[in-house]
Amino acid sequence: MEYLEIKGGRALSGTVRISGAKNAALPMLAATLLAGGSFEIHQVPDLQDVRTFLQLLKELGVEIERTRDSTLVIDSSKLDSFEAPYDLVRRMRASVLVLSPLVARLGRARVSLPGGCAIGARPIDFHLKGLELMGAKLEIREGFVEARAKRLKGAHIYFDIPSVTGTENLMMAACLAKGNTVLENAAKEPEVVALGKMLQDMGAKIKGLGTDTIVVQGTTDLRPVSCTIIPDRIEAGTYLMAAGAAGGELVIENCVPEHLETVIIKLKAAGLKIKVIDADKLKVKRRGRLRSVDIKTQPYPGFPTDLQAQIMVLMATAGRLSVITETIFENRFMHVAELKRLGADIRVEGRSAIVKGVKHLYGAPVMATDLRASASLVLAGLAAKGTTVVQGLEHLDRGYEKMDEKLLSVGARIRRIGDN
Ligand code: UD1
Repeated sequence: MEYLEIKGGRALSGTVRISGAKNAALPMLAATLLAGGSFEIHQVPDLQDVRTFLQLLKELGVEIERTRDSTLVIDSSKLDSFEAPYDLVRRMRASVLVLSPLVARLGRARVSLPGGCAIGARPIDFHLKGLELMGAKLEIREGFVEARAKRLKGAHIYFDIPSVTGTENLMMAACLAKGNTVLENAAKEPEVVALGKMLQDMGAKIKGLGTDTIVVQGTTDLRPVSCTIIPDRIEAGTYLMAAGAAGGELVIENCVPEHLETVIIKLKAAGLKIKVIDADKLKVKRRGRLRSVDIKTQPYPGFPTDLQAQIMVLMATAGRLSVITETIFENRFMHVAELKRLGADIRVEGRSAIVKGVKHLYGAPVMATDLRASASLVLAGLAAKGTTVVQGLEHLDRGYEKMDEKLLSVGARIRRIGDN
C-alpha cells in the first residue's frame, strides 16, 4: 500500500494552483444524463471520486472522451441503463446523484442504497421523499431503491435540514417535471449554484439560486452545453491552512475568494495574514504562533464541515483553548485519535472537540479514516517535528488532486512511497 512520508518543520513558499471542485464536478457530470447529446466539461479534476462517477456513467451507456488534460467530452445520447450498482454506490455516496436524472429522462431508476459511512449515517430520505412528492413511485427492494414515473410533476418541497446533494438531485428532477417546483430551505453552497447555472444554460428555468428558496419551472427541452467546473473552495481552504500549519507564504491561484469568506475571517482571527491579490488569487502568510479561535460548522455560508479536521490541526498548536463544534455530521471526529498520536491535546465532548494548543506536534505513523481527515493528517505532518507517515491514501486520492506533488512544489518535504 502507498503511504506518504512527511518530514515536518519546513516553511512553505510559492504558488499552488487549485483544481476544479469535486463537489461541483459530480452533480454536473450527473446533469449530462438529463439531455441526450455531446457536452464539453472543462477543468474536471482528476480524482478517484470523479473516475468512479465516470465509470458509473459508462455503465449507463454514456460515452466519455478526455480531449485535453482536464476537458471531457461526454455524450449521453445512448443512455440505455437505469441501474446504479452497489459496487459503485458503496465506493461513493454521491453516485446517488444519478437517481433524479434517470427517473426524469428514462422514467425509471434503480439505484443501490448507499448505507452508512465513516462520518455518520448520512441518509438519503430527503431525496426519496422529494421524488415521491413529485409523483415517483418508490420501492425499496434487495438493497436498491427503484423509482418510476411517466413524467415527474412539480411539487412544493421543504428540506428539514438544507442538504447539498438532496437539493441538487431534486433541482435536476424539477427541470424536466411538469409544472413548477419550489425547494424551500434549499442548500446555498456554491456547488449547488454552479449546477444550477449549468442547468440554466441547458435551457432550464430556475430562480433563486444561492438563496434558500429555489423555484424551477419544468420544461421538456434541455440541450447539451459546454461548461467549466468552479475552483474547489475546500482544496483552496486546505492550502490556506497548510501555510498556517507549516508557516511561510503561499499564493493560492485559481480560487474564488468570495466562496471562502467565512474561512478567511476565522483564519485571520487566528492570526494568518490573508490578502486578495487578484480576482482569483489569495496570498497567505504565517509569522509566529497562531491564536485559538472557536469554530462551529454550518451550512454555507457558515464554516464548512469539510474544513473542520484541517482547522483542528491549526488549533492543536495555537495559543490557548479552542472549541470546535460539528453540527453537520455526527461522527466527524475520527481524526482526533490520530492527531493525539502526534501529541495534540484534544478532548471530544458530544459534538464538540476541546482543543488545547500544545507547543509542538511530533511525527508518528497515522492512519487516514476519511477524505478530509486524511488532509488534516498531511497538514499535521507538515507542522510536526520529525517524520510523519500517513497511511490510507485511498481516502486522500478520492478528493485531492496530486496533493503531495503540489506541496512538494512549494517546499514541503513529502514523498509518496509504495508499490504502485
Ligand atoms: C455534501 C458534500 C460533502 C459535505 C456535505 C455537507 C458532495 C458530493 N458532498 O454531502 O462533501 O460534507 O455536503 O456540506 O457534495 N441529511 C438527511 N437526509 C438526507 C440528506 C441529508 O438527514 O436525505 C442530513 C445529513 O445526514 C447531514 C445534513 O443533512 O446531517 C447535510 O447533509 P448533505 O448536505 O445532504 O450532505 P451531502 O450532500 O451528502
